[in-house]
Amino acid sequence: MAQEINEDISEVILSEDDIKGIVSRLGAEISRDYAGKNPLIVAVLRGAFVFTADLLRAITVPCEVDFMAVSSYGDGVKSSGVVRILKDLSTKIEGRDIIIAEDILDSGLTLSYLVDMLRGRGPRSVKVCAFSLKDIPNHTPAIKPDYLGTHVPDEFIVGYGLDYAEHYRNLPYVGILKPEVYSR
Ligand code: XMP
Ligand code: MG
Repeated sequence: MAQEINEDISEVILSEDDIKGIVSRLGAEISRDYAGKNPLIVAVLRGAFVFTADLLRAITVPCEVDFMAVSSYGDGVKSSGVVRILKDLSTKIEGRDIIIAEDILDSGLTLSYLVDMLRGRGPRSVKVCAFSLKDIPNHTPAIKPDYLGTHVPDEFIVGYGLDYAEHYRNLPYVGILKPEVYSR
């Protein structure tokens, strides 16, 4: 049963059904590519925790999960590309096949830093699975995801783990936040 759309959302861009379709496709791609391996899915907190929970259940090969929390240095609005680790992995990744799960790729600077950092720990492979990629005109992100869920418009989007000031992560759909909400 569809729930009512939150009043701060101007438009729903991905419904619960859209999301289900995207995640099951990603799960099938990963299951195909990692047959016989035991990948470690690394969720980037906090945004990716909802996506990762669904992605794990769409993967049919043995796998593990661990979590990292990072924050970008900078003015707080735009990524600077320098990332501070707030919570590190509990798992040793040497020789492992790593798949980083991210909610949204914008400039790509956060992920590109993270990939380099994890590569330095001697894993067998590091791939990126991004639920969404923001389409920014005349801009190429710093990193190309190996697995991509969907493109989203160049707007501030929330829901399905994505927040504005820690709110809206619980929305089961992805929507565009009304601009008047952030000028309140
Ligand atoms: P970069 O620019 O390094 O940043 O790819 C990616 C991170 O920025 C956050 N982000 C958003 N969060 N709605 C959000 O809720 C958005 O539209 C949005 N765009 C970027 C997010 O944390 C992501 O991991
Ligand atoms: Mg994030």
